[in-house]
Amino acid sequence: MRILVTGGAGYVGSHIVEALVAAKHKVVVFDDLSMGHRQAVHPRAEFFKGDLRKKADVAKVFKKYKFDAVFHFAARSLVGQSMRDPMLYLGDNVVSAVNLFEEMIKNEVGKFILSSTANLFGDPTKIPISEKEAITPGSPYGESKNIIERELFWLDKTVGMKYACLRYFNAAGASLSGRIGEDHRRETHLIPCLISAALENKKFIVNGNDYKTPDGTCIRDYVHVSDLARAHLLALKAIGLKSRIYNLGSGKGYSIIEVIRTVETETGKKINFGFGPRRAGDPDKLIASSARIKRELGWKPKYSLTEIVETAYKWHLSHPKGYAK
Ligand SMILES: NC(=O)c1ccc[n+]([C@@H]2O[C@H](COP(=O)([O-])OP(=O)(O)OC[C@H]3O[C@@H](n4cnc5c(N)ncnc54)[C@H](O)[C@@H]3O)[C@@H](O)[C@H]2O)c1
Repeated sequence: MRILVTGGAGYVGSHIVEALVAAKHKVVVFDDLSMGHRQAVHPRAEFFKGDLRKKADVAKVFKKYKFDAVFHFAARSLVGQSMRDPMLYLGDNVVSAVNLFEEMIKNEVGKFILSSTANLFGDPTKIPISEKEAITPGSPYGESKNIIERELFWLDKTVGMKYACLRYFNAAGASLSGRIGEDHRRETHLIPCLISAALENKKFIVNGNDYKTPDGTCIRDYVHVSDLARAHLLALKAIGLKSRIYNLGSGKGYSIIEVIRTVETETGKKINFGFGPRRAGDPDKLIASSARIKRELGWKPKYSLTEIVETAYKWHLSHPKGYAK
């Protein structure tokens, strides 16, 4: 297939592009490089620089190529930023998806895969969280994904667009190829922040230690990007038959302190950490139930937290300044 991958120069997108290329698909990466890296784009993928918020840029890429499917990773995804500047999310994230949908309908492209999020579940009633859990977005970021999921529901009903919403919990780790890894411009993700803290002997502040968990720190579910990549390939095959929604996680939760200890073991360095106040809106525990995708598509994650940290650490050692080296 020829697949348009928006945000394919970013962290998760570049890993899925690597898997699509390995599976012999033709890939066109569309990215404005506002947060991604040109070096992260696979050498066998074509690169198209453009901004999804601009209808003309989106129209141009659809004019140049005939696509069979669209994988949509390009978005802003910082919960805190979305609380301060909601229209970057309720505006830009939504408009970007709408511009894609319009061109897809015009050009009869019928398959769409969305990077959705655990932030749909701001207040889960049951752990592990299944797809039946009520949607209570934790922020304008989560709400922007919810709006896009709802648009997809109606596009399936009205124009027959088939889609998969893949709600990742915490994507983590780096490609086993060693070529790509996690390098966000403003890193907020736990594992790369802890690796930097360990190697550079920087103090790490844990946001809150009064959660209702055994050690008081938040419990989260980490899933390796290569496991996510496999889920995307399976979803692409399956949506030929019907649209799908899946929660994607490892099904295991680790507290911040447990992740700190894992990073210490892998790096052989002690992390100097202390406790700060809670972050507004952070639930005690977020753990995915991935029973549905296991049952329907046979997906289950292969990589443990130790392997996630190991691959992330290896990439960090070979790219100490990320892609800027
Ligand atoms: N990383 C995670 O743990 C996680 C968890 C849940 C969901 N997600 C979702 O997965 C997707 C990818 O996340 P990521 O961590 O790889 O983010 P990222 O910032 O590394 O990648 C996003 C990419 O999109 C590009 N982009 C942003 N706005 C654009 C625009 N208007 N036009 C064109 N390109 C644009 C950026 O340059 C970047 O390359 C996001 O949609 C995010 O909401 C990520």
